Formats: sequence, C-alpha cells, structure tokens
Amino acid sequence: MWFRKKETVHTDEKILPQHIAIIMDGNGRWAKKRSLPRSAGHVAGAKTFKDIARYCNKIGIRYLTVYAFSTENWKRPKEEVDGIMNLLRDYLKDATNFKSENIKLNFIGDFSPLSEDIIRLIEKDEAESADATGLQVNIALNYGGRDELVHAVRKLMQSGKDADAITEEDISEAVYTAGQPDPDLIIRPGGEYRLSNFLIWQAAYAEYWFTDVLWPDFSAKDLDRAIETFAGRNRRYGGV
Ligand code: FPP
Repeated sequence: MWFRKKETVHTDEKILPQHIAIIMDGNGRWAKKRSLPRSAGHVAGAKTFKDIARYCNKIGIRYLTVYAFSTENWKRPKEEVDGIMNLLRDYLKDATNFKSENIKLNFIGDFSPLSEDIIRLIEKDEAESADATGLQVNIALNYGGRDELVHAVRKLMQSGKDADAITEEDISEAVYTAGQPDPDLIIRPGGEYRLSNFLIWQAAYAEYWFTDVLWPDFSAKDLDRAIETFAGRNRRYGGV
C-alpha cells in the first residue's frame, strides 16, 4: 500500500484527503460488456462500494460520500430503479456492513419520494451507527446538488434570517453535509468528465480524479492511485 511505503504521506494528515466523494459510474456498461442485465452491474457496483468503504476506513479516511441515486435517476426503467432500491434495502438490512467496522452511516438527499420501509431503515441505521468513531459514509439518495440548494434556500428563508446577513457558512450549514468538511478529492470512474449535479456547493475547492475503469472494476489500487495523485497536487485555494 502506498501509504506504508511513504511514511511522510501516511503521517501527514494534510496530504491524506479527509473527505473523498465518488460518482459510482459505469455499472451499466460493465454489465453490457458481459451480456448481463444492467441490474447485474449495480449488484457488482454495490459490492465495490462496500469494499471501497471498508478500505477507506482502514487507511484513515474520515468521510466518504457516494452518489447512489440522483434526482434524475427516476427516468430510468422501473425495473432498474427497483433493482437499485432493492440493493439499498439489502445493504440497510445488513448491519454487519457497518457495526463490526465502526462505520457511521449517514444518508443525504430528499427522502420524500422513497418508500416508507427504506426511510425507516435509514433512520434505524443512522441511529445505530451514530456513535461510531471510524469512517463516516454519506450515501446520496435521491440527491441532486441543485435540489439541495433549493432546500437550503428555503430553510434559510424559513429561519427568518435577514437576507443581507446570509454568509457562505450559513449556506454550508443549510446543505445536507452540514458540520462536515467539504470533499478534498472527487473521483469519477467510468470515463466521463463531469460532476452531474453532485455536491455542487461543496465541490468548490475539490481536486478531481478521473479514470476509464468502470465502477464495478474499481479497486483499492485505483483508490491508492487517486490518493497518490491528490498528494502531489498543490492546492492554493485561490492564493499563490
Ligand atoms: C451509475 O452507473 C450508477 C448508478 C446510477 C447507481 C449506483 C448504485 C450502486 C452502485 C448501488 C448502490 C448500492 C449501495 C448499497 C450504495 P450507470 O448505470 O449510469 O452506468 P453506465 O453509465 O455504464 O450506464
């Protein structure tokens, strides 16, 4: 593992990203290449997600945010949407995914159109893992960055705050990731080079890393490569 070889990188917390966000793309193409239904790609993608979350926890990443289902994904065939929801159900029901690993689960997005049973499972898992001190996993579900900002604006207006007094910090506290650091590193596998409405407020100073590897094939080695590239970047935040 790269961080063992490079002691300085391992010990320097400024270089290891605190918060990694991933757009889990390429499940459909992975399945197509194998003449399998798209749902098989999502099954494989869910397994990759579990492996990568475990690995992030092991190497000391503090936050991992994954794009599981966007506000636009409802446009997909019902069968595919149901398949992704069933994968989430299975994941939520299997508490061993987080209990034995000391992983804290958190869901971000607008849950209003989700089935009642999924909402209940989310609440249960979030409560059961609330005291975990390891990695915090944010699963973005019916999430859209613009939708998140609409909710944040409504929240701020409803709070009665004077419009002229609203600050960037107020907006950061009104979005779903309130209280968390912004992502340092955003990874997109699957060969596309766009943000697709993911964390648009939080991504302002993130570093980006893209790969053609399809998400079901994404491995700890790919994550190491992304982190290594990140460690070599010079983040200036608008300074010199
Ligand atoms: C994008 O690939 C992937 C999705 C829209 C769904 C991602 C969902 C999972 C990985 C499963 C989630 C489960 C858990 C437990 C978090 P795509 O289908 O757009 O791929 P394509 O571009 O090749 O068609």
